[in-house]
Amino acid sequence: MEQKVISNIPEAYRVDQPIPEKEPERQDFFISLCQNYIETNREKGISLTYAIVTFGCQMNAHDSDRMRGILERIGYIEAPEKEADLVIFNTCTVRENANQKLYGHLGQLKPRKKTNPNFMIGLCGCMMQERDVVEKINRSYPFVDFLFGTFNLHRLPELLFARLHENKRMIEVLPEPKEHVEIKGAKRKYPFKSGLNIMYGCNNFCTYCIVPYVRGRERSRTPEDILKEARLLVEDGVTEIMLLGQNVNSYGTNFMEESQIISENPDYGFPDLLADVCKVPGLKRVRFMTPHPKDLSDRLIEVIRDNPKVCRHIHLPVQSGSSEILRRMNRRYTKEQYLALVEKIRKALPDVSLTTDIMIGFPGETEEDFQDTLDVVRKARYDQAYTFIYSRRTGTPAATMEQVPEDVVKDRFDRLLDVVSTIAHERCGRFEGNTVEVLVEEKNAQNPKLLTGRLGNNLLVHFAGEDTLIGQYVKVHLLKSHGFYYTGEIAE
Ligand code: 5AD
Ligand code: SF4
Repeated sequence: MEQKVISNIPEAYRVDQPIPEKEPERQDFFISLCQNYIETNREKGISLTYAIVTFGCQMNAHDSDRMRGILERIGYIEAPEKEADLVIFNTCTVRENANQKLYGHLGQLKPRKKTNPNFMIGLCGCMMQERDVVEKINRSYPFVDFLFGTFNLHRLPELLFARLHENKRMIEVLPEPKEHVEIKGAKRKYPFKSGLNIMYGCNNFCTYCIVPYVRGRERSRTPEDILKEARLLVEDGVTEIMLLGQNVNSYGTNFMEESQIISENPDYGFPDLLADVCKVPGLKRVRFMTPHPKDLSDRLIEVIRDNPKVCRHIHLPVQSGSSEILRRMNRRYTKEQYLALVEKIRKALPDVSLTTDIMIGFPGETEEDFQDTLDVVRKARYDQAYTFIYSRRTGTPAATMEQVPEDVVKDRFDRLLDVVSTIAHERCGRFEGNTVEVLVEEKNAQNPKLLTGRLGNNLLVHFAGEDTLIGQYVKVHLLKSHGFYYTGEIAE
């Protein structure tokens, strides 16, 4: 993949005051300039609104929360996508169908430019790190107002201002991170739970995966920085934190800044960080996403076992059950090693929920390979498995390998789904009749008399209760399992 800066952001703006050079002061400056714009509109009786449409993983969801924080500081008001004056798409490029979805959305939005003179469209996220995509948008979607990548999210205020000021489309995509600027004041969907990035990028280069190309090399934040953010989140009402990284097990291989903790303990790794985050007063639950099976250590299992705050849920992507396919995927574990790890985890943490990602139709996958995958699913007995059809990503090594015919893939995919859902249903049933602590997240979407709570193991339960319980921890009796959720009642 070609690496080059694409940018037409002006160096100088016609503004009265000097523009700060340093971040985050520079973006604070542009936030205040954008605020003027919102204010001027408000004086004319126009309240400008925004919506962010998010595709993809938890990392993107968290980035969207941070952008929402920025837009709210500017003075934009959140609104449904159909009504908003500014719509930003935070894109994903892990699979081809996500790309197609974006182009579909853009086509639908184009007519709104005619009816709403304030209407703007912004694009960001992983897809924008691909040169072909940016060229296509530039050529075929002239109504897109601004576009940026994964390494300059914090520059949203400057880009937005440049777009308003210059009255032409603004594009800025960097091939790699230039500087790291944390964004303060994310606006979360749920005030009581939050993602927390502990690292960025990935060095694993699984042969099917585009992530290392669009998110760059692995970089860890210092423990000091992470713990400070965790404490601030708790002060802001958060009780559940999800630590985020492409492979959390390799946390600590490359720090972005100097760290006292690391200089005193050079072996400090993810298990230490997890234990330290658990010590933050006021925090009730800690989750993490995603560990790679190749380097999930015994020490990590011990830390989970000894810290009740760590949720009993491990997402352990297997991708395939065939050692030969795993070798060609560059996963660096075999079927046997993976199953041994599962056994070790289940032994140490008997009540853990184990979930996974499985990919069907990786180049060269035979029926025998597929049977190995089914075998792993039956032996690991996943509580849930996210199943994907292999999608060819240009620039990755697997793209040039021999592809499996579509009908064969589809047939295997359906057979896999059958096995996965039968087991998930059985697994869900195992807690029926138990009383468990849940975090009440929201009113039930279908039935407003019900609340929805999340168990530590990530399953949901619907039960009758007052809205005032939202954000609280409540003991719920699990009356009935419905395969992938429960119905229950508050325990007296
Ligand atoms: N095709 C299909 N699925 C993919 N994933 C990653 N890359 C691809 C691809 N090229 C899946 C993996 C990963 C999850 C986040 O997405 O299963 O664990
Ligand atoms: Fe992609 Fe593999 Fe890195 Fe996960 S670990 S982001 S699948 S390269």
